[in-house]
Amino acid sequence: MKNVAVVGSQWGDEGKGKIVDWLSSEADVVVRFQGGHNAGHTLVINGITYKLRLLPSGIVRQNKISIIGNGVVVDPWALLEEIEELKLKGTDVNENNLILSEAATLILPFHREMDEIREDAAGNSKIGTTRRGIGPAYEDKIGRRSIRVMDLKSEKNLDHRLDAILSHHNTIRKGLGKKIYEKEQVIKDLLKIAQEILKYSQPVWKKIDEFKSQGKKILFEGAQGILLDVDHGTYPFVTSSNTVAASAAIGSGCGPNSINYVLGITKAYTTRVGEGPFPTELTNEIGEKLGTKGKEFGTVTSRKRRCGWFDGVLVRQSIKISGIDGIALTKLDVLDELDEIKMCIAYELDGKKIDYLPAVVNDQLRVKPIYKSFEGWKKPTNGIKNFDDLPEKAKIYINSLEKFIEAKISSISTSPERDDTILIINPFSS
Ligand code: GDP
Ligand code: IMO
Ligand code: MG
Repeated sequence: MKNVAVVGSQWGDEGKGKIVDWLSSEADVVVRFQGGHNAGHTLVINGITYKLRLLPSGIVRQNKISIIGNGVVVDPWALLEEIEELKLKGTDVNENNLILSEAATLILPFHREMDEIREDAAGNSKIGTTRRGIGPAYEDKIGRRSIRVMDLKSEKNLDHRLDAILSHHNTIRKGLGKKIYEKEQVIKDLLKIAQEILKYSQPVWKKIDEFKSQGKKILFEGAQGILLDVDHGTYPFVTSSNTVAASAAIGSGCGPNSINYVLGITKAYTTRVGEGPFPTELTNEIGEKLGTKGKEFGTVTSRKRRCGWFDGVLVRQSIKISGIDGIALTKLDVLDELDEIKMCIAYELDGKKIDYLPAVVNDQLRVKPIYKSFEGWKKPTNGIKNFDDLPEKAKIYINSLEKFIEAKISSISTSPERDDTILIINPFSS
């Protein structure tokens, strides 16, 4: 029996949603294990677009269980809104197909405000966060003052837990001259939605254990990408969680041996939204072309994504850090019209050639990419479902990329549509 973890191998938005939705035809259970509604995962099914933020990408299929694990930070209002949006599109979300960890940390309104206050005050050194309160909520979790889903069960407990979190936040808010949060009001607001949220709440570790013993196939759905990992990414320009595959075990309550295959979702070029180093960024016409053809606008914030050439050095580094067994190469079709395609195969720093991204942010900003050049195939690949049908020059690019990153290509995506995908190695049965 194989369980698969899907993670982004770049700076997010690699097409995780599309691939998870596609793979979930074979899975029984799909689990989100980190991040929150900073994620924006797009699925296109028969021309209908779904943009999921907190709900796992298996939710649109019948008879699949969706789980939001303990490692996710959950804005309860955002979750209810997303459930309502899906219901309007004809997808039912109920206690039978959605399980929310009782141990998940809640994102509260003061987290979102703190995210905004900090970003606005940081000027040129802002991170460019999604302003959803993700960082402040994770800080409170590690600081042991969070309100968790289970706390909604009792007003008395909520009262006690709020003393801890509000004494921290109100002290900072007073110092900044911001309005103080009154405990009674926060309790009132939370109690209004408590039952709606609690109906999904269960011990996720126990459910996963049951599913495992029933032989069910589990698909773990990562958010963001390895280069946004708080330990391994381009710190401080990262998110506030661990985005590597190991996080799937922690963020859902199963051991690392429950993950049998790690699939890294990898765009055939590179994008980044928000601030921070980006060695292969193209601030020219080609970058614009990639952005327009690839429709590179943020799913969550509608911000324009920065675009650049495929960075083999970075993806190879992500593969090693996250233990990626194979990759799903996405958005190949976006390169269709280019005369020349480049791939970064090393960097130059202070006259020396290096084969990895250095840890110091100032060095990351200074490295100069060394490129290998490929002739463009200048033929449409959109919608191709067999490897053999790809143009020869596209195969040369793909094979060279595969060799360089030192991981197998498991699938290739050629359009946003669910079924426009070439299967090479099935991660559930490889
Ligand atoms: P995620 O955050 O990793 O799930 O990715 P997003 O959904 O934020 O961004 C990926 C975008 O690319 C979405 O608009 C997808 O519909 C789209 N997409 C995914 N795969 C392909 C592909 O192979 N070709 C094209 N043209 N678009 C794709
Ligand atoms: P998906 O799952 C791309 C980026 C933000 C910012 C940094 C920190 O759709 O791939 P945060 O709000 O998390 O504190 O922001 O991380 N970021 C993402 N970029 N895709 C995402 O998610 C992202 N989630 C956060 O733009 O640079
Ligand atoms: Mg996204």
